[in-house]
Amino acid sequence: MTITYESVATPDGVVAPRFRPPTGASSASAMTLDGEWRFRLFPHPDTGVDRGERGDDWDRLVVPGHWQLAQAPHAWPYGMPEYNNVLYPFPVDPPHVPDDNPTGEYRTTFRLPADWPEGGRTVLRFEGVDSWFQVALDGEVLATSHGSRLPTEVDLTDRLHAGGEHLLAVRVTKWSAMSYVEDQDQWWLSGIFRSVTLEHRPDGALDDVRVHADYDHTTGVGTLRVDTATVVATPGPVAARVTVPELGIEGVTGEELQIAVEPWSAEQPRLYDVVISTDTETVTLAVGFRTVSIEGGVFLVNGRPIKLRGINRHEFDPLRGRAVTPELMLEDVLLMKRHHINAVRTSHYPPHPHFLDLCDRYGLYVVDENDLETHGFQPGGWVGNPVDDPAWTEVLVDRVTRTVRRDAHHASIVMWSLGNEAGGGCNLPVMVDAVRELDPSRPIHYEGDFSSDHVDVYSRMYADSEEVELIGQGIEPPLERPDVDARRRAMPFVLCEYAHAMGNGPGGLADYDAIFDRYPRLLGGFIWEWIDHGLTRADADGNLFSAYGGDFGERFHDGTFIADGLLLPDRTPSPGLRETAAVFAPIRIDTRPDGALLVRNRYSFRDTSHAELRWTLHRGEEELATGTLDLVLDAGTETVVRPPSGLPLLEPGEAPVWWTVRAVQQKAEALEEAWLEPGFELGAGQLLLVEPAGLPAPAGRVTTEADGGFRAGPAVFDVRGGLRSLAGRAVHDLRVDAWRAPTDNDRRPARWRGPADAEKWRGAGLHLLAERKDGVAVTADGALAVEARTAGPATRAGFATTYRWQPVTYAPDAVDLLVDIRPEGRWPESVARLGLLLALDEPQAAETGVRWTGLGPDESYADSRYAALGGAWRHTVADWQTRYTHPQENGARRGVTSAALSFADGSGLRIDADDVTIGARSQLGIELSLRPWSDDALERAAHPHELVPDGRLWLHLDAAQHGVGSAACGPGVLPNAQLHAAPVRMRLRFTSL
Ligand code: GAL
Repeated sequence: MTITYESVATPDGVVAPRFRPPTGASSASAMTLDGEWRFRLFPHPDTGVDRGERGDDWDRLVVPGHWQLAQAPHAWPYGMPEYNNVLYPFPVDPPHVPDDNPTGEYRTTFRLPADWPEGGRTVLRFEGVDSWFQVALDGEVLATSHGSRLPTEVDLTDRLHAGGEHLLAVRVTKWSAMSYVEDQDQWWLSGIFRSVTLEHRPDGALDDVRVHADYDHTTGVGTLRVDTATVVATPGPVAARVTVPELGIEGVTGEELQIAVEPWSAEQPRLYDVVISTDTETVTLAVGFRTVSIEGGVFLVNGRPIKLRGINRHEFDPLRGRAVTPELMLEDVLLMKRHHINAVRTSHYPPHPHFLDLCDRYGLYVVDENDLETHGFQPGGWVGNPVDDPAWTEVLVDRVTRTVRRDAHHASIVMWSLGNEAGGGCNLPVMVDAVRELDPSRPIHYEGDFSSDHVDVYSRMYADSEEVELIGQGIEPPLERPDVDARRRAMPFVLCEYAHAMGNGPGGLADYDAIFDRYPRLLGGFIWEWIDHGLTRADADGNLFSAYGGDFGERFHDGTFIADGLLLPDRTPSPGLRETAAVFAPIRIDTRPDGALLVRNRYSFRDTSHAELRWTLHRGEEELATGTLDLVLDAGTETVVRPPSGLPLLEPGEAPVWWTVRAVQQKAEALEEAWLEPGFELGAGQLLLVEPAGLPAPAGRVTTEADGGFRAGPAVFDVRGGLRSLAGRAVHDLRVDAWRAPTDNDRRPARWRGPADAEKWRGAGLHLLAERKDGVAVTADGALAVEARTAGPATRAGFATTYRWQPVTYAPDAVDLLVDIRPEGRWPESVARLGLLLALDEPQAAETGVRWTGLGPDESYADSRYAALGGAWRHTVADWQTRYTHPQENGARRGVTSAALSFADGSGLRIDADDVTIGARSQLGIELSLRPWSDDALERAAHPHELVPDGRLWLHLDAAQHGVGSAACGPGVLPNAQLHAAPVRMRLRFTSL
């Protein structure tokens, strides 16, 4: 049979897949072929180019890399990236793909170095080629392969001659039958995107090395057994010496070696060098001793329950796509560790193998996922799905077993995953059997096995916290078949995806986390996802921006759905990542309703003796007292702490007094360099000890101006009571507001049903609110009372508002505003915000400085607020903005009791907030947002660089905002963070500085 790019066939002409020691672990000779290759792109796989053609006058292209990104961000000579989530961008007609199938011809030449060993075999290894490729040497086709994120090896030995030059030709197609099983939610990017090496395999080489390293937590004894074989040169078992120098043990392959060891865990990633040698090759592997088990429905590592506080990671570099460098992999791992992430699902394919080395070394639990997704069959009812088609069995088994063989030696991997969103069918049990046979030591995961017939853990995505709570208790609705139901009910539960981090969000992370902690059956989960895949692109003026679906002229794409990570594309942590760090903190410090702090050691294996609990008593920018708490908690235990006695008794002052406790790393951990510095925060929490003194009554009288208008301290009004200027600055607008530039979550219906929040809000006219003044009067006590009504078009619902302005007798530069907002008529279930919009003329608004007392330093929302702590903070208006890849509501600072703005011209404005109530609830301070552009502009902008200051400072002085939720993919805002139309009252004081 001739194998083509449309064949459903396993790789041909390749070396049998094996448990291969990773690159760099072997003493055998190797030579990289990475670098500049010759390249030409053709419109179709029938390129007509001879394999013997050297291509000396072709273009130059760097391997590893994707051809679409060869000249990113400025030029795209080889076609542009395309983004699709679920749907195939071509007709669903497997195994056929379009004729328009860009195909790269790659050429490079090499000579074996003079010192290349004689004898043995020489193997060419590709770590990753997307999607289908053919390998030819000196004009002759030797192999065809696929499995974009899997290795391929081709034995070249018989065609190599010492000293001679060889021509290597690789033909790579963009589309192939395999595109049907590689439908992951990401950019379609092609080419040889991982390294290519030539490797010598001596006779008697260690080609196939299986390491079994278990840990018995009852005895503290580790068991090591290494099985080896040669596969390439002289197939068959091979005996080798096994030593662990650090433990002083020696043995041979096949022998069980037992010795007391320190176990491996993500908390304490202890590794030992295991040296395996024959006369011709030595392999050194960093081995961790650990045992994964499931007992009584609970997932255990080394006999103890663990929680996965994880993220889903795609490989992504904004300029290089999936051709990620070792430096970037390390950056990812360190960013995860620094944000208390302890687990990674390698969505949705095996990552570059070096990433797993780093997970072993720094300590991350890994769910290693097979390179498989066929989601595009779902809309057609899964008809024709490869996972249910016997014609695909061999291909699918080949993929998953290549995954296991490549990665099995990694201690960090605690589960295998069969793939993502690939439906069910006859091939699932076959894949499961194949994995179990190769590695019975790890549980198998696959969310698409909906009743968990074949797998070992019950996995779901985006289940809401209510349902997860039922599952935690084992009282979820039953499956139809009682035996399957009983089996699944005895399984641990994991959310392989939850808390969709698209744009501003995720909201509700802490709600999930609390439920995970409550029930032993709940193993935790993986936030979707790690990073926004915004590719850097230059616009016509040369401005660089992060491009998403549609930005490369694709006509069939999924837009902003590619920007749903905790990191912005340049790896700037989003507020969502800081929230993750606060929620995932291993030493959690939470406020209890009785005015104490609960300190919990959430490690599974270690006490808190590496941490110091430091406290500060502070008011505004003033530190009043500091100290430490003498406390060591064993793994899994908790205690209640209160401020020590003898603290100064404090009268209420201008700012609230907080008692803040931070658990910090005491000294650098010896086992790992650099990432865990002394002082690194492992958790924080605080108590509000003294509320600020209220603002004294204003008691001044407004004056009437010559033009019939009014004046109250720094505020000037027209005859109808409209605010014209404040603190010497023209007022462009002041009115009630209930709208926001919709977040990605606002734009989508929760749980994919019903209208989205933003649609409901639009239906109520919130995006077009206008205010009418109904009356103005000076009250007997000297205040200016303005009655107004704010409403949108085509609706009877509106807000009746009373503004009561009054000068402050003892502060001539100040004016008080008491505002009462009363919703009238029928409102949608929620509103985006409730408060005042104030727009002031300010030519240099972005440079305005802000110092505020409240929660900070980052933005927070009602359901994303763990990272924000009470204190005194400062920013500029420019820095106040979060530049989400897709612009949307951002930047709210909550609990603000005072804020001082300093304008570029040296003048300033101070805003104090007091007596804030929503319905029957009173709260400390307001939610403040500041922007150098309007919400309209924010909503209209497709990318952050399109936002330009408009000469005004736009302030939101809100009582509250609706939470953010994660409706973009999953549940919306939970009741505890919803904002309903309700009467609002706030007292604000504006002081000209
Ligand atoms: C999930 C899928 C992910 C991603 C996410 C939406 O269903 O598994 O790959 O597409 O939805 O961002």
